[in-house]
Parts: sequence; C-alpha cells; structure tokens
Amino acid sequence: MGGKNIGLIGLGVMGQSLALNLQRHGFGVAVFNRTPQKTKEFTSRHPEIMPTYSLEAFVRELDTPRRVLLMLTAGPAVDETIRALTPLLSRGDVVMDGGNSFFQDTERRAQNLEAQGLHFLGIGVSGGEEGALKGPCLMVGGPTEGYGQVSRILTKIAAQADGPCCEYLGPRGAGHYVKMVHNAIEYAIIQIIAEAYDFLTRAGELEISKVREIFDEWNHGELGSFLFEIAVEVLGKMDEEKRVPLVTLVSDRAGQKGTGRWASQNAMDLGVPVPTIDAAVAARNLSAMKDERLNAAKVLGTSRPPTSRFHAGSVESFRAAVEASVIVSYAQGFHLMSRASEHYGYSIPLGKVARIWKGGCIIRAKMLDPITHALETEEPRNLIVSTEFAGRLIPLDPKWREAVKQAKAAGIPIPAINASLDYCDAYRSERLPANIIQALRDRFGAHGYERIDKAGNFHTNWSN
Ligand SMILES: NC(=O)c1ccc[n+]([C@@H]2O[C@H](COP(=O)([O-])OP(=O)(O)OC[C@H]3O[C@@H](n4cnc5c(N)ncnc54)[C@H](OP(=O)(O)O)[C@@H]3O)[C@@H](O)[C@H]2O)c1
Repeated sequence: MGGKNIGLIGLGVMGQSLALNLQRHGFGVAVFNRTPQKTKEFTSRHPEIMPTYSLEAFVRELDTPRRVLLMLTAGPAVDETIRALTPLLSRGDVVMDGGNSFFQDTERRAQNLEAQGLHFLGIGVSGGEEGALKGPCLMVGGPTEGYGQVSRILTKIAAQADGPCCEYLGPRGAGHYVKMVHNAIEYAIIQIIAEAYDFLTRAGELEISKVREIFDEWNHGELGSFLFEIAVEVLGKMDEEKRVPLVTLVSDRAGQKGTGRWASQNAMDLGVPVPTIDAAVAARNLSAMKDERLNAAKVLGTSRPPTSRFHAGSVESFRAAVEASVIVSYAQGFHLMSRASEHYGYSIPLGKVARIWKGGCIIRAKMLDPITHALETEEPRNLIVSTEFAGRLIPLDPKWREAVKQAKAAGIPIPAINASLDYCDAYRSERLPANIIQALRDRFGAHGYERIDKAGNFHTNWSN
C-alpha cells in the first residue's frame, strides 16, 4: 500500500477545502473522518481523494515518512485522535495540527510526540473556508526536521504574496501562538469596523447604502483590506423577502470562540498591554448580554444621539480614527508576539509574520506592506514608534480625538477606538500617575516605593 503524499483527518468545513487544495496541487490525499458518512459523501463528489474508514487503513495509504494533517475541533478531539493514531505511526512520521489549538496544548503535545520519535507541528491556518480552498496563510511551529518533511507541500498550497504565505515561525507552540495573535488582531479590527458602522448609522443617521459607499472609499485608501472588502459586500446584501439590508436583520449578539480571549489572558500573564484587543473581547461579551442590556436601557435610558453634532467633517474624522486604531491593533499584536517570543524562546521572525499575513489570511491588508518594511528595517520596540507609523499617527491625531469626542457626545460606545487612543496617549507619556498608585499602595500595604530623586526602596508613614 502507501502512495499518498499526505493524509487528512477531519472533514469539516476546513478539512474538506484543504483536501481539495492539496489534490488540486497534484498531491495524493487520503482522508478519514470520525463520522464515516461524511467521508463517503465527500469522496463520492471527489473520487480523486482516497476515502478510508479506519485509522489503520488510513495509515496504510500513506507514503513514509507519513504526513498526517489534523483539521479537528480544538480541544479534546485533538488529544483523542492523537492517542488513537500515534501507536500506528513510526519514528520520523509527521503529525500536523491545523486547528485553532491553544498554544500551550500544542507545547504539551509536541513534548509527548517528540518523546515517541514523532515530529509534531502546530500550524495556524487562516483564511476561512475560501482561503483553505484557494490558498491559506500557514503559520508553522515545531521541529525544523518535521517542517523539512512537509515544507514543499505547505508552501505549494499556501496563498502567494511576495512568495508563499507559509513560514516556519519557531519551535513547539510558536505557530499556534502567532495564529492566536492573528485572531486577536482580527477581533480588534472587526470591532473597530463595527464602531464606525454604529457611529455613521446612529450618530450620522446615514443609510446603510451610504455607509457602504463610505467603506468602499476607505477600502480604496490606506484602509484597503480583506475585512473592509467583505464589510462592503455584507452591507450591500439585501434580504430578498423584506427588501431591507440583511445586516439590519442580524441579531446583535456576537460570540467568541476563544482565541481573542486567550490572547488577552496571555498578554496579562506576560504584562503586555493590549487594551484594544481586550476591548474587542469585552465588547463581544457585552453584546451577548442582550437581556441585561434591554433591562439597563429601561432603567438608565439610552442616550439619544444629537444629530446636530454630526457634520460633513465627521466622516473624515472617523476614517482617521479607524486608520489610527487599526495601526494600534497591529502594533499591540506585534508587541505581544515580541515579548512572547523572548519569554517562550520562540525567536519568532516578526517581519516574516507580517509578510505571510499579506496573503490568504483574514487580516490581510495594504498596511502590512509598510508594517513588514518597518519590522525588517528598524526592528522597533513598538510599531507606533517606527518612522513610518509615527509619521502616520501624528497627523491623524487631531481628527482621531475629534471622532472620539463626537462619539462620546452622541453616546455611541467606541471601546476599541477609545482604548487605542488611550493606549497611544499612555505609551507616549513621559509621566504617568503611577506615582500616586505607588504612594497609595505604600500607605495601605507598606509595599514601599521608589523615588525619582534618590536610589533605593522607601517606606513612609503617610498618615502622620
Ligand atoms: N472555519 C474556519 O473559518 C476556520 C479557520 C481557521 C481555523 N479553523 C480551525 O480549524 C479546525 C476545524 O474547523 P472547521 O471549521 O473545519 O470545523 P467543523 O466544520 O466543525 O469540523 C470539525 C471536525 O472535527 C471532527 N471532530 C470533532 N470532534 C471530534 C472528536 N471528538 N473526534 C474526532 N473528530 C472530531 C468533526 O468530525 P465529525 O464530522 O465526525 O463531527 C469534523 O471533521 C478548528 O480547530 C477551527 O477552529 C477554522
């Protein structure tokens, strides 16, 4: 037996698309799925792909060293499948997890599989169903020897943008760490788009078709990106039955599957401020509390946007606020990866991350060109102080503040845009009020404090 270049386990949305992508690029593919009916249906539509109905038969179809890609629901499904699969594999075989696994689960699995002589790669896959089919962005972590066994396949099926959007990003959980931050930036940008939509429709009382035009215009400038492109599409979709924009009929509760929250939690653990990402996660949590919101609207009343504050310049102010906040979202994500890279010993090549994000993935954007350039030429501690982005943020500043002022006056919540401005203001503050924080802590808990005029640790009896 043997003969297939790669085996894929998990024929969900992503697994099916990746199997077709692999097959289209000339690779022999065998597939296995927990529910056999799905395997049968899928391979009857695509007879070039080899169906298997037991893990034993699946493994028998593969060339050695075997290459197995798991596309499963993150969590116990991955552990269960690995437990059943690994006794059937041989030393030197490669197991890849392409799901959205938590990077610390990947660390644990990498250690266990390495001890069995297997190579385990944690691969962040971005681009959704369409990307998986036509060319995803692949963020690979694991042993270099294992990557050597699969790089030819992965680079071929990946999107292309100045080269394949597939890179080796470091050992163990590095790939899944980068994917987690990618998703966190995605949370932030989606929230920023939602805030602009909210402001323009509620404070500006603009028709959805007008907001669509505005977003389309923005998408042709510095904000050009996949997320703005699909926002234009979404706003243009009409409900055929009711003849209104479909988006107005969509429930206003958003879920969060974990990656944004994980990034926020991990950033807290590492002491890296990512308030725009935190705000985006919190905004989704708040949106999910529909009953409580309805009750609070009755008790506290909702603020009625005074339309008079909205004027011709408001749209441009908001565009500036959105551009600045998107820059800050990327900056926080890269800042977090830079700290994590040191902390976990990943040595993540940040310039390469920015380059592969230019194609295939959900946060692909025109802005990633200058981000790649800034990271590769300057290696700034934070993108917002790079020559390129400081040069962009400074002129955006007055309009950004104006937009925040207008939204506040109109009672429109803009947590991500606001958090981004506060972040910038705090990050560039020569002096922050942490002096009184230190003093208060010393007053109630005798924690001690440092002084600016002499070295050492001091304690004062403040109440006298
Ligand atoms: N959808 C996206 O846009 C996207 C983008 C990037 C990454 N991802 C990640 O890619 C992975 C797959 O996503 P998807 O959208 O393809 O999910 P999906 O459509 O829900 O498919 C899940 C797959 O996992 C299998 N599975 C679930 N529990 C299992 C278990 N206990 N044992 C064995 N198999 C099990 C399912 O098998 P059955 O058919 O038997 O249920 C199915 O094949 C996830 O980790 C997801 O987070 C998704």
